[in-house]
Formats: sequence, structure tokens, C-alpha cells
Amino acid sequence: MLNIALPKGRLGDDVYRRFSAIGFSCAAMENEGRKLIFRDDEHDVSYLLVKPSDVAVYVERGAADIGVVGKDVLMENKPDVYELLDLGLGRCRMCVAAMNGWSEDISLPLRVATKYPNTAREYFSRQNREIDVIKLHGSIELGPVLGMSDVIVDIVETGTTLKENDLSVRSVIAESSARLIVNKSSYHFEKERIDKIVNDLKEVAL
Ligand code: PRP
Repeated sequence: MLNIALPKGRLGDDVYRRFSAIGFSCAAMENEGRKLIFRDDEHDVSYLLVKPSDVAVYVERGAADIGVVGKDVLMENKPDVYELLDLGLGRCRMCVAAMNGWSEDISLPLRVATKYPNTAREYFSRQNREIDVIKLHGSIELGPVLGMSDVIVDIVETGTTLKENDLSVRSVIAESSARLIVNKSSYHFEKERIDKIVNDLKEVAL
């Protein structure tokens, strides 16, 4: 049985459609409910629905053989897994953003609100800029709005959240999209089967 960890939410729905297109459909998944694990005995796979930021944890520890996760999460946590495919879904950019009209005081450490402290530290250390990281778990844009932080490091997809809160992008750190990741020992033991899945997914993406 191959365990596939999918991120709950819109990205997970898009990814599930890709897996359905290569023959791994699971009718029970299409009913809205609170169930978190779905077995498809016919194809010998099961789907696990997990929090997007946790997908790589399940895959790294072998609770899932395969997972789909944003590149943003991989950059932040650097799990010890193979990254085999860019699915091209969930495209967004990791950015530094600030309030419109804000100007930087370079004599002070830059206060950075973010869900991505490692990414923020790496980026600003490459710029030789001292920072004070304020770790948040959501609604990051409130940091600068309330004057708690100077900037944010966060993902920007449509730009609507920034716009509606009077912020704008100051620099782009990296592009992100959904990646297929694989547990290292699962790949060793199931290489042929996993390679076929990867190749089939590549074809349906065309
Ligand atoms: C993410 C991100 C931004 C927003 C960007 O938040 O942290 O706030 O999406 O998307 P946009 O550019 O299309 O507006 P999410 O929706 O995950 O909620 P959160 O604030 O709880 O993290």
C-alpha cells in the first residue's frame, strides 16, 4: 500500500484531481466530511489529508511514501526527502513586503514578521542585514499595519491581501509551487512504481 499525503484545502483538491487523472481516484474522497484517511484497495494506495505545513514531516518519517507540498515549506524546513516533480500548481512568490510609504532605518535591526523564520534569516543574512524575527502563524500582514514589525516575509499569490491592507512587495525572495516529494527509503524499495506515478503526473500536466 502506497501512502500519499495530500495538503488539506484548495491545493489538495487540485492535486487530488491530478492523481484522479492518472487513475488513482477514490470516490469516498469526493464526499465532504471529517475523515482524514481514505484507502483505495483497487489501486493499492491510501490518501492521508494533512495540514499543508506538515506534509513533509509525514514523508520524511515514512508515515507517507509520497506527498505534495509547497516549495516555500521545503525551503523553510529542508526535510530530508527527494523532490521529484514540480506540479506547477499553487504558484506563488515568497516576498518581503512593507506598508506603502514605509522607509527603512538602516541604523536599527529590521523587525520581520513571518511564518518563515529560517527563510527570513537566510535571506537577510545574505544581505548582511540584522533582523529581529517575530514569528506568527497567520494574518502576517497585521504586523506592519499595527507597527509591530517593519516588514513581512510571506507568500504572495494574487496580491489581494497586501493590497487590501495597504502593503506592497519590496523584494522577491523566491518563486514557489507544489512539489511532489518522496520518502528516501520508499523510493529505494518502490522506485519503479513511484517513477511511473511521476511520469504519468508529468503527462497529465501537459
Ligand atoms: C496566505 C499568505 C497571505 C495570503 C496571500 O495566507 O500568508 O496572507 O495567503 O495570498 P494573496 O496574495 O492571494 O492575497 P493564508 O490564506 O494561508 O492565511 P493565513 O493568514 O492564516 O496564513
